[in-house]
Amino acid sequence: MVLKKILLLLGLTCLYSRVTAQTTPAQRFFPKEKLMEIGLFYYPEQWPREQWKRDFDNMARFGFEFTHLAEFAWTFLEPEEGKFDFRWLDEAIDLASQAGLKVILCTPSLCPPAWMGDKYPEIYLVGTDGRRRQHGIRANASLSNPKYRFFLARIVKALGERYGNDPRIWGWQLDNEPLATPDYSPSARTAFQQWLRKRYGTIGCLNEVWAGSFWSTRYNTFEQIIIPNEALNEEDKLSPHALLDFQRFTADVTADFLNEQADILRKYIRPGQWITTNYLNVSTGADPRRSTHIDFPTFTLYPVSGRNELGGNNFRTGNPYRLSEANDYYRPISGVTGIMELQPGQVNWAPVNPQLLPGTVHMWIMHAFAGGSAFVCTYRYRHPIRGSEMYHEGIVGTDGVTLSQGGREFIQAIEEMKQLRVAYDPRSVMPEKMAKRNTAFLWSHEVMWDLDIQKQTTQWNTWRNRHHYAAAIKSVGAPMDFISETDDFSKYPFLVAPAFQLVDAALVKKWETYVTNGGHLILSCRSGQKDKNGHFFEAPPAAPIRPLIGADIDFFDMLPAENTGSVSYQGKTYQWNAWAEILSPHPGTQVLATFSDQYYAGKPAVISRRLGKGSVTFIGVSTTDARLEREVVRAVYENAGVAIEDLPKGVYLNWRDGFFVAVNYTDQPFQAPVKPGSAVLLGENPVKTAQALIWKEN
Ligand code: GAL
Repeated sequence: MVLKKILLLLGLTCLYSRVTAQTTPAQRFFPKEKLMEIGLFYYPEQWPREQWKRDFDNMARFGFEFTHLAEFAWTFLEPEEGKFDFRWLDEAIDLASQAGLKVILCTPSLCPPAWMGDKYPEIYLVGTDGRRRQHGIRANASLSNPKYRFFLARIVKALGERYGNDPRIWGWQLDNEPLATPDYSPSARTAFQQWLRKRYGTIGCLNEVWAGSFWSTRYNTFEQIIIPNEALNEEDKLSPHALLDFQRFTADVTADFLNEQADILRKYIRPGQWITTNYLNVSTGADPRRSTHIDFPTFTLYPVSGRNELGGNNFRTGNPYRLSEANDYYRPISGVTGIMELQPGQVNWAPVNPQLLPGTVHMWIMHAFAGGSAFVCTYRYRHPIRGSEMYHEGIVGTDGVTLSQGGREFIQAIEEMKQLRVAYDPRSVMPEKMAKRNTAFLWSHEVMWDLDIQKQTTQWNTWRNRHHYAAAIKSVGAPMDFISETDDFSKYPFLVAPAFQLVDAALVKKWETYVTNGGHLILSCRSGQKDKNGHFFEAPPAAPIRPLIGADIDFFDMLPAENTGSVSYQGKTYQWNAWAEILSPHPGTQVLATFSDQYYAGKPAVISRRLGKGSVTFIGVSTTDARLEREVVRAVYENAGVAIEDLPKGVYLNWRDGFFVAVNYTDQPFQAPVKPGSAVLLGENPVKTAQALIWKEN
């Protein structure tokens, strides 16, 4: 036992000591000592030309470091087919630059101009309702349509030629919030058929994977294939494998559309200019790991939109999970991320649009800093006085000059960032107590899609399940990276892979090696049940992971919305409803929690086992409030001998570049664990609602 403990410690030492600051290619764009730069969106085309200079000068006077132009301006850049006009943009860039602002330029792909749709209506996508989109809105093009792609390539090339060698241009944003909207247009159908031909080679192979023997659904040729559309086939269930392929295809088309734009720009841009796109913070259709030709992904964030995750005033401080998870999801992809759009105040588009609690915008900016962002950009400088977003606040109000509450908080953050830059120490390394908790969260869009295609119960919510586990991990004060199957697991002492449904032998082996070498793996219900095609194994349920978790999964259960079942863990009872796996442990596996009712009362629900130098914990139940998951996850760190924090939901503690940062989305003050002798640089302890605290340990 003692020897095992020593080995465990050795294993941990070996694992956490590898957390060193390695530089990724994308990090070269952002000098470390700048920490985080702050900027804003401006749409010169929406305002009288005589106001541009005043506006850019004011932005610079407020301390903003960059601006963001031309995002939706296709009709101004190419007012008629093939006739380009860059004079207005030249003038705007001149004025921005004279004011001292760097410029992010955008490709206008989201907004095809009227002339295009008028002459070539086939450029529009067809929605799930079978209807073709039309002019008058954005995000209406079929990304598979060759005509649209021809025009897009031409304007991107023209922009690259004109501004690629311009030192005033800091970087490029492609498109806006790529969504991977399902497209059922004739162009998409042809592209889907080609994609399938490439994937499967023969129609026989496709029929095999799609289960074409079922209900006579097989095809004779690729040309016969139609896009599966659940909205038009409500009577029964379509092939889940066809649906999964359509999700993959749609994500691939979106990635290809971004990659092509990046490739074109790359031919013209200077080495210092970077290329990104601004994904939604919750990106379920587009898969940010597929757009590999951009330098790094960024994201957009609007946490206050009428919902109340934590109760009380949390509807004014915002969904606490959004920023935390987006930081940890986007940053590891290329080692850099930024927030391309941060809500500056009240928005216009939610079902209910409340005001923000004063302090909230500032807290979000510091939370972005804590999560490693290289920049924060806010949407938008001016409050629109007409158009569909006229109820959306900006940094200045409807008069174009008076700062909003969010505007004042941005300026406060800009001033503080200058002080943090002075306090920055390039030699700082992650403190050992944080490095020991370092955690990887294994995430795959394909797994999410497959779970969502066959939810089996209305009570299952894949994204909610994700943030239940993410919140449990963050409650211990752990640094976290969302990683993919192809990443190196070994640099993380802890690896959490909830509901990881699609597995192959290579992944199971990789998990086993990770654990044998000293890692601590947490798997949860709905893991290991299917192969990569989304088929069950011709074997007992979840057969490939049974030896790893040290148990058989006898069967799974789920309850009607109005029922709950209970699980008992360490003398306490927890309620579940969505999913439960009833386990039969193998010898040597420890039972941590058991079902305490239903006809299988007494059967194990949560188990754990040692394997080599590490451990595997299997949480076979999804509880209604995720308290059980939180307790079990926390125990895994403690059993591994790692000291942890006890942070309430909605309170975050991060370390970045020598700075500890705590933020508080809750109604209760929080006493942050500031080590005696630390230098508090910003804020007060206890950390009040919507406040941030930043300190350095000496
Ligand atoms: C974002 C979008 C912006 C703007 C904003 C309004 O989702 O990317 O263009 O519409 O919402 O809050």
